[in-house]
Amino acid sequence: MTDKVHFFDTTLRDGEQCPGASMNLREKLEVARQLERLGMDVIEAGFPCISDGDFEAVHTIASEIKNCKIAGLARCVKGDIEAAAKALAPAGDRARIHIFLATSPLHMEFKLKKTPDEVLKLAAEGVAYAKQFVNDIEFSAEDATRTELPFLAKVVEAAIAAGATTVNIPDTVGYTTPDEYYNIIRYLKENVSNIDQAIISVHCHNDLGLAVANSLAAVRAGARQVEGTINGIGERAGNVALEEVVMALRTRAEQFNHVQDNLNIKEIVRTSRIVARMSGMQVQRSKAIVGENAFAHSSGIHQHGILNCRETYEVMDPQAVGWGATELPLTKHSGRAAVKSRLEQLGHILTEEEVNAVFERFKKVGDSKKFVYDDDLSAIVDDSLHASSGLWELKFVQFIAGSNNRPTATIGLAKENRLYEDCSTGNGAVDAVFKAIERITKCKGTLKGYSVNAASEGKDALGEVTVRVDFGLPKPIVGKGASTDVIEASARAFLNAVNRSIRMAQMPMANVSDEKGI
Ligand code: KIV
Ligand code: ZN
Repeated sequence: MTDKVHFFDTTLRDGEQCPGASMNLREKLEVARQLERLGMDVIEAGFPCISDGDFEAVHTIASEIKNCKIAGLARCVKGDIEAAAKALAPAGDRARIHIFLATSPLHMEFKLKKTPDEVLKLAAEGVAYAKQFVNDIEFSAEDATRTELPFLAKVVEAAIAAGATTVNIPDTVGYTTPDEYYNIIRYLKENVSNIDQAIISVHCHNDLGLAVANSLAAVRAGARQVEGTINGIGERAGNVALEEVVMALRTRAEQFNHVQDNLNIKEIVRTSRIVARMSGMQVQRSKAIVGENAFAHSSGIHQHGILNCRETYEVMDPQAVGWGATELPLTKHSGRAAVKSRLEQLGHILTEEEVNAVFERFKKVGDSKKFVYDDDLSAIVDDSLHASSGLWELKFVQFIAGSNNRPTATIGLAKENRLYEDCSTGNGAVDAVFKAIERITKCKGTLKGYSVNAASEGKDALGEVTVRVDFGLPKPIVGKGASTDVIEASARAFLNAVNRSIRMAQMPMANVSDEKGI
């Protein structure tokens, strides 16, 4: 058993799959670059056969990221495996095809409509087929924790014999418990004859709030890859939060046989923020490690204790995971070079044209607020790059609101060098703004979620608005906008969602075939 635990991040696949999280190519690439800085061993960049957008994302990430393995998901069918191989080609020998096939009685009968013998054969054939394209194959027995153990062992053995280098035992529906999961991993170690030829991986969902405990139990049992997402985003109650797993392994190393990992934990907080911003999924304040309150002590007794000796009330050093790494804020007097250099320090890799767009917005923001903090700057990047790549551009927003007025908004939007203006009343200023945008763009949507957050500290902080809008597409669209004025930020966010919906509607979905077999 090697004592290194590999971290496999699926924020861009399982994480992005959940309602409310949706990222475009630029956002996915930004997340991937940050995961690379975090020292992730494997980045699962998407599910290439599912849509042209996913294929492009996997292909681009496989071309751009140089220091991590890149995985692409595939069902156990030829078309999926071929699409994954093609999308991953630029990663060369860092490419991993991740094949999944359900093994539980429930899934085999009602989803796959296949007998156990057929599934066993299919697993071996799928892995062997993928092996023609790449050497690094991960096989996942979907719903493994509700699979009969002797059958699970047979499938895992067949997958390894066919060439799988990692075998994943997912708790797909978040059903297992730490003791049970520990026993499953031990069972496989003891009953699969070729288990030493592959790394055992675990993949936990959080339906019962046990994902971290289950992952840690699996590591104690000998699993050496942990799959999860940043901030725990993912289907339903989410995937395991990798930042929590690594900090538990490090903080209680003696409980886990002092296993090692490659992560650069100082990048954790920054990674969390980038994922929150890019996915539109906010982090709850009290979340372990990365929540705003994770290291905040409001009680006098705690504060006193902390001042005398940090360990009295803290089990980790907040700076070790990247809290408190703030630089001097920029001001409106800061020049383009200073802004560009700070952008680079913050990990934003932008073209000269993009830096110009950000700098233009920065100047406007600098006029209305004294200090532009790092988080304000990241919000500006997000906002201005959305705007510059959008179809519609916000030119102005005016509104009348108040207890004795009928809320009314007038909006100016530009498209292909033409200015369009319209106005609308509404049930509040934000509603009036959204309706005016709908009138101009002819894009009607139902608002499913609206949130506003301060990007940094102080009364003049940039307000970051995130909206989730249903335009009748397969998934609600997330839009984001930032401004010192919350109504303007709302207009920017809604317009961003409109632009994304137009783009998404133009994107053909790949023809997803049935799981018929190899
Ligand atoms: O939860 C799950 O089973 C998965 C597999 C595709 C690994 O996400
Ligand atoms: Zn999953």
